[in-house]
Amino acid sequence: MVKVLLIGNGAREHSIAEAILRSPQKPELYSYLSSRNPGITKMSNVFEVGSYDDIERIKTFAKKVGPDFCVVGPEAPLDFGVVDALAGIGIPSVGPTKHLSRLETSKSFTRMLMEKYKIPGLPKFQVFTDTSGLKDFIQSLDSFVVKPDGLTGGKGVKVHGEHLKDSKDAVKYCGEVFKTHPAVVIEEKLEGEEFSLQSFTDGKHVLDSPPAQDHKRAYDGDQGPNTGGMGSYSCSDHLLPFLEKNDMENAHRITVYMANAIRKETGTPYQGVMYGGFILTKEGVKLIEYNARLGDPEAMNVLPILSSDFVDICYGIINGNLEKVKAKFENKSTVCKYIVPKGYPANPARGERIEVSPLVNANMYFASVDQKPDGLYMSGSRAIAFVGISEKLDEAERIAQQALGSVKGNVFFRKDIGTMGLIQRRIEHMKMLKGI
Ligand code: AMP
Ligand code: GLY
Repeated sequence: MVKVLLIGNGAREHSIAEAILRSPQKPELYSYLSSRNPGITKMSNVFEVGSYDDIERIKTFAKKVGPDFCVVGPEAPLDFGVVDALAGIGIPSVGPTKHLSRLETSKSFTRMLMEKYKIPGLPKFQVFTDTSGLKDFIQSLDSFVVKPDGLTGGKGVKVHGEHLKDSKDAVKYCGEVFKTHPAVVIEEKLEGEEFSLQSFTDGKHVLDSPPAQDHKRAYDGDQGPNTGGMGSYSCSDHLLPFLEKNDMENAHRITVYMANAIRKETGTPYQGVMYGGFILTKEGVKLIEYNARLGDPEAMNVLPILSSDFVDICYGIINGNLEKVKAKFENKSTVCKYIVPKGYPANPARGERIEVSPLVNANMYFASVDQKPDGLYMSGSRAIAFVGISEKLDEAERIAQQALGSVKGNVFFRKDIGTMGLIQRRIEHMKMLKGI
């Protein structure tokens, strides 16, 4: 009997839990969560609620449970060193050590590795630890992006023309960043269409899942503030409407080179997920950033259509023999959309009840909700993700939309994700950039 410990409490982890339990090996699931996700707790043999920085508590729980391995969902526990702590008591993990999770937590680590190992897809960049030379470099770029070096909860990256007016604004922002972060990365602003490629790796071999495209803005038409991600889609041909096979191969190659570079540089293999945030530009595929985990929402595009055994993939990652494992995904399109409280992300409605009608055929993954005796209550962030799955993208979109439309409460969602109108805009944008 395989025992798996899952760390995490969001919709992404709900979909990971489901993928684990679909395994023909009939695993037992144990979970450690920072809030009581009703989907995950229901699937778990035993669960424990605690904070992710309480490494001692996680270790005590893990010792009690005695799992064969652990799967770490979010970035925070990776950065707190949970993988190192569990390794110390003989429990391997799907997820990098604290040192290697710098792939996500340190923008400068990733950029400097790309430069040192001559990995393609690198925009012009420089790392600064104080303001000397800062203004000159910013002014040498047509357009720029400022990235604090360290975890910022997705709120630290500021883009010229969106959040920063000019180089003066940028230097001022860097001054603020230096108060809380050791360094800042300034890089060339890239124009194009972003996509997520989530790959499993044992540090040598890389297995990709189908690419997906996330939607960060809160409102329809890519308007409004940035969020954790309002929804995402993937296509049955395992490409995206603006992305060709050759682009995917280039993105895959960047991840393979990066996995090798990490191993050479640190002497240890990266074992877990490398989720590349790529952008297709008129010059080809470039890397925006890596995350050391699956995406949220993008995990929900790929895990439900994984037809191989997820537990085998986990063992391949841990044992360093991922080349013997297959990651097969069904040729289906998926559309994932989050229902969120009104006012999200700035002033979300909290503690309000929502009602979900019985699902027709959408998948449902709980995120920021509390199950109370009289129903489900929102706790302020993205509440529930609904996923439509079908051969055809428009049908997948319709399934997700039908489920979302039936939710009653003080909520909203993006109606346009996965629709032909929005997808056509993405295609036109790419054609315009390529001049075709
Ligand atoms: P976050 O996920 O908050 O770290 O923000 C990352 C977002 O910043 C990406 O999804 C891009 O939209 C944007 N971004 C980061 N680097 C660049 C870049 N070099 N060029 C254009 N946009 C970028
Ligand atoms: N899809 C955004 C993230 O997972 O960071």
